[in-house]
Amino acid sequence: MSENSRKKLSPLLAWVVFFGCMGAVFVLGLATAQLVQRKAEGRQLAMVLHPLAPDEPDSSKFKANYPREYNSWEKTKISEGDTKYGGPSKFSWFGRDPNKLTLWAGYPFSVEYNDERGHYWAVTDVKQTKRHRKNNSGEEKGGVFPGTCWTCKSTDVPVLMKQMGVENFYSSDFWSLEGKINHTIGCADCHDGETMNLRISRPALKEAFAAQGKDISKASHQEMRSLVCAQCHVEYYFKGPGKYLTFPWAKGTKFENIEAYYDDEAAGFADWTHDVSKTKMVKMQHPDYEVYLTGIHAYRGVSCADCHMPYRSEGGVKFTDHHVQSPLKNIANSCAVCHRWSEEEIRSRVEGIQDKHHEMLQRAGDAIAAAHKEVGEAIVEGLSDDELAKARDLIRRAQMRWDFVDANNGMGFHSPQESARVLAAATDMGQQARLAVAQARLKRLGKQ
Ligand code: HEC
Ligand code: HEC
Ligand code: HEC
Ligand code: HEC
Repeated sequence: MSENSRKKLSPLLAWVVFFGCMGAVFVLGLATAQLVQRKAEGRQLAMVLHPLAPDEPDSSKFKANYPREYNSWEKTKISEGDTKYGGPSKFSWFGRDPNKLTLWAGYPFSVEYNDERGHYWAVTDVKQTKRHRKNNSGEEKGGVFPGTCWTCKSTDVPVLMKQMGVENFYSSDFWSLEGKINHTIGCADCHDGETMNLRISRPALKEAFAAQGKDISKASHQEMRSLVCAQCHVEYYFKGPGKYLTFPWAKGTKFENIEAYYDDEAAGFADWTHDVSKTKMVKMQHPDYEVYLTGIHAYRGVSCADCHMPYRSEGGVKFTDHHVQSPLKNIANSCAVCHRWSEEEIRSRVEGIQDKHHEMLQRAGDAIAAAHKEVGEAIVEGLSDDELAKARDLIRRAQMRWDFVDANNGMGFHSPQESARVLAAATDMGQQARLAVAQARLKRLGKQ
C-alpha cells in the first residue's frame, strides 16, 4: 500500500472502528446489566426461599442464605492463641496487674476480671462470671443484678424489649430472664433480618445520640460500620432505681465530657464506695467507641469493621469476615490492606504502642493504689470525712481516668496520644491525692 491509498481508506476505517466500538460497548453494557440483575436475583431468590423476620434471633436460620458470613461468625467460638495484650481466651488480669485488686476493692470486679472472649461466648460468660453468681448473703443466683446486664449479650434482647417494654426489661431481675435468653450475639444484633441492612437494634445508642441533639438514622454507611459496635462497646451506667441503660454522652464523648456528666447530670453518681479509702467511685466500662473517635483512624474515616471485620475472598467471592477478633490474628487481611508494611513490622508497631501504655497504666495504678491505702490509714487515725474530702475527690477523678484507658480494649492502640494524655492526668491526680492526705495528716498532728 502506498502512502496515498492509506490516506484514502482511513475515513472509512475510522467509521468502521467507531461503530465497532459503539457496538462492543453496547453489548458489554447489556451483559453487565444482566450480570448485576442476576446477582441481585440470586440474592433475592435466597431471601424468598428462606424469608427471615427483621428480629429473627436464631442466627442458624441465616446459614442457608449467607453461608460464608455464617461460617465465619461461628469462628468467634475459637478460644486459642492469645496476643501479647489480648486475644480470644479469658485469661485473668489479676496475675498481670495486681493493682486492679486494690483499685476495685469492695466492688464485684475485684472478685473476677477476665479478658473478653469472642461473641459466641457472651451468654455463657455473663452467666458464669463470679461477679454476680452470688448475692450479698452468699446465695447462688441471688439476683442482685438487673435485666440490664443482658442487653449486650443476645439477639433475644430486641424481641424481649418489644414484648415486655424497654423499662420492664431493664428493671427485671437478671436471673428471672435466664430461661428466655437462648441465643448469643448474632445476625439480628447488627442486621435487619429481612433486608440485611445494618441496623441499630438497641435503644440506648439511639437515645445517647438524641441527648446530643443528633439523629442516628442520618449516620452514613461508613459510620454505621462502627455504630453497630457502639451499641455495646461503650461506657455506660444504670440510671436510677429502674436501672435504665444510659450512655453518659449528653455533654459529648471525650473523657472530660463524661466526667462532667457524672458530676452534673448524674449528680455525683457512684457505682460503689471503696473498701479502703471509702471514696465514692465510678467504674468505667470499655469505652472502645469513645476512645476510637479520638484517634487517627477515626479521623481518616477507618471504621471498627475495617480492622475487625475485613473483607476476605473465598472461591472468587468477596465477603465480610464475620470472625470478629483481634486484628493481630489476621494482619494480612486487616492492616496490611492499607499499610504496605511487613506483618512483622505491623505487629511490632502495635506492640510498641501497647508496651508504652502498659507502662503508663502501671504508674498511674501504683499512684492511685497508694492514695487509697494512705487515706485508709488516715481513717484509722481518726481523720474526718471533711479532712479527707479533697484527697477522695482527687482519687475518684484519677481512677476514672486510669479506668477509662484500662477498660478500653486494645491497650492504648485505638488512640495512643489521647490515652497517654488521660493517663498523665491520672498519675498526676493520684500523686496530688497522696499530697492532700499527707497534708491533712500533718495538719491533724499540728492540732494535737
Ligand atoms: C485501625 C484498626 C482498628 C480499628 C479502627 C479499631 N480497632 Fe479494635 N483493635 C485493634 C488492634 C490492633 C487491637 C489490639 C489487639 C490485640 O492486642 O491483640 C484492638 C483491640 C480491640 C479489642 C480487644 C480485642 C482483644 O483480643 O483483646 C476490642 C474489643 C476492640 N478492639 C474493639 C473495637 C471497636 C468496637 C472499634 C470501633 C469503635 C475498634 N476496635 C476499632 C485495631 C483496631
Ligand atoms: C457485630 C455486628 C455484626 C454481626 C453480629 C453480623 N454482621 Fe453481617 N455485617 C456486619 C457489617 C459491619 C457488615 C458490612 C456491611 C457493609 O459495609 O455494607 C456486614 C455484612 C454482611 C452481609 C453483606 C455481604 C458481605 O459479606 O459483606 C451479609 C450477607 C451479612 N453481613 C450476614 C450476616 C449474618 C448471616 C450474620 C449472623 C450469622 C451476621 N451478618 C452477623 C456486621 C455484623
Ligand atoms: C450486642 C452487643 C455487641 C455488639 C453489637 C458488638 N459486640 Fe463485640 N463483644 C461484646 C461482648 C459482650 C463481648 C465479650 C464476650 C465474652 O467475653 O464472652 C465482645 C467481644 C468482642 C471482641 C473480643 C474478641 C476476642 O477474641 O477477644 C472484639 C474484638 C469485639 N467484640 C469487637 C466488636 C466489633 C468490632 C463490633 C462491631 C462490628 C462488635 N464487637 C459488636 C458485645 C458486642
Ligand atoms: C482502611 C485503611 C486502614 C486500615 C485497615 C488500617 N489503617 Fe492504619 N492508618 C490508616 C490511615 C489513613 C492512617 C493515617 C495516615 C496519616 O494520616 O498520615 C493510618 C495510621 C496508622 C498509624 C499511625 C502512623 C503514624 O503516623 O505513625 C499506625 C501505627 C497504623 N495506622 C497502624 C494500623 C494497624 C496496626 C492496623 C490494623 C490493625 C491498621 N493501621 C489498619 C489507614 C488504615
